[in-house]
Amino acid sequence: MMIAQFRLLPYVMIPLFFLTTLNVSAQEDPVLVEHGGKLFAGATFRGNGRTCQTCHTKETGALSILQVNLLPASDVLFRHDAADAPGGNTFDRIRQNATLLVEVPMHSNVSIENSSARTALLPRGVPTVFNSSALDPVLMSDGRASSLQLQALDAWLGHSRISKFPTDYDLNAVAAWERSKVTVRALRNFIETGTLPELPRGRTESERRGRLFFTDDNPVNGNPIKGRCVHCHSGPMLNATSQGAQAIFGIPAGSRFGSAFVSEFQLGGGTMLTWEFREQDGSVTKITSADPGRALITGNSVDANAFKIPTLWSVRTTAPYFHNNGAKSLDELLNHYQQYFNFVENIVGIPGFGMTDQDKVDIRAYLELL
Ligand code: HEC
Ligand code: HEC
Repeated sequence: MMIAQFRLLPYVMIPLFFLTTLNVSAQEDPVLVEHGGKLFAGATFRGNGRTCQTCHTKETGALSILQVNLLPASDVLFRHDAADAPGGNTFDRIRQNATLLVEVPMHSNVSIENSSARTALLPRGVPTVFNSSALDPVLMSDGRASSLQLQALDAWLGHSRISKFPTDYDLNAVAAWERSKVTVRALRNFIETGTLPELPRGRTESERRGRLFFTDDNPVNGNPIKGRCVHCHSGPMLNATSQGAQAIFGIPAGSRFGSAFVSEFQLGGGTMLTWEFREQDGSVTKITSADPGRALITGNSVDANAFKIPTLWSVRTTAPYFHNNGAKSLDELLNHYQQYFNFVENIVGIPGFGMTDQDKVDIRAYLELL
């Protein structure tokens, strides 16, 4: 772990003032949606046989380790980017972690030490396209895709190796279908009526304590500083930094990238590489990381190890977690957050930031309600 690179809350400033800039259309065109659904599930465009649904399964829109292991070795999932190494024909990584080797073009300021490569190959999990597509304009764990349409085209070219091109109508249709897949009632209601989704109150004592830990972001009220998940998981989608983060850390509210310390703590392993960032003054900043995330896109070393803050709605259904599926379950995820928050309390020296074992039980119970 690299303490020298520690920043309390690494962030990227893309303030998104959700309610004013989000262009949510309550009603998608049903004909377009239906066509998009067919393409998502069935279109191969004379490629390698994979469809979007090969990875974004119809049950959850994501891909779990269990789902991978239920497939026969002959399944189209087990193709090029699922292999352990490029060109290889072993598939242990995807069976153990459900990750694909994703090719990420690097900003011209970034390179890998002793390498002339212009793209990075990184193991990334399959995020769900449900719920987020309608309400989250930031796509991919590093935010590199600019629209659902371009993302779909890239996915068909990259994952499915298509030889026949989708039309613009097809791309719009897939995007419309993705936006239509809203399974959380509070979000559906938000889209249709504009009513902000409310966090569940919790019924049991444990759920209520979990809620308090999750939402208590007021350090000036005599409470010890708690976990305050909402510092990063706030807003209607629980995926943006809050006013509290602004007051305490000077991070603009609404920022969409941050670090949950997955790369810093090497959660989920991965190959450590040294990444070189050319600074404006000509100097080079070297950062060792299995995946520097957002920094590869912005070319700015300050963004190293920051990733998109994902929504937490319906999170109980989409294990494994984090960009690299580094946490296999909510329990593993909370073990990681406990280590992270205790590190902030003990090493960085912010009293009250730590998390007890009881806190973990409570937060888990609460996350199950979302
Ligand atoms: C071989 C597996 C695979 C296939 C096939 C696939 N995807 Fe993905 N998809 C991924 C992975 C892996 C990511 C995450 C990449 C990252 O974060 O760098 C992803 C990310 C996405 C995202 C971003 C979600 C978010 O919350 O940021 C969308 C949207 C998406 N895919 C749509 C599609 C569509 C549409 C298709 C079909 C045209 C498709 N995918 C085909 C593996 C796949
Ligand atoms: C410093 C900002 C920050 C704080 C504080 C924070 N998170 Fe996160 N959270 C993130 C980021 C960034 C990610 C994505 C990290 C990655 O992919 O490597 C994430 C990912 C997650 C995920 C995984 C979602 C998925 O679909 O993979 C869960 C669950 C989660 N956080 C819950 C929590 C809980 C519970 C708390 C409070 C105990 C919390 N977070 C506090 C920034 C934060």
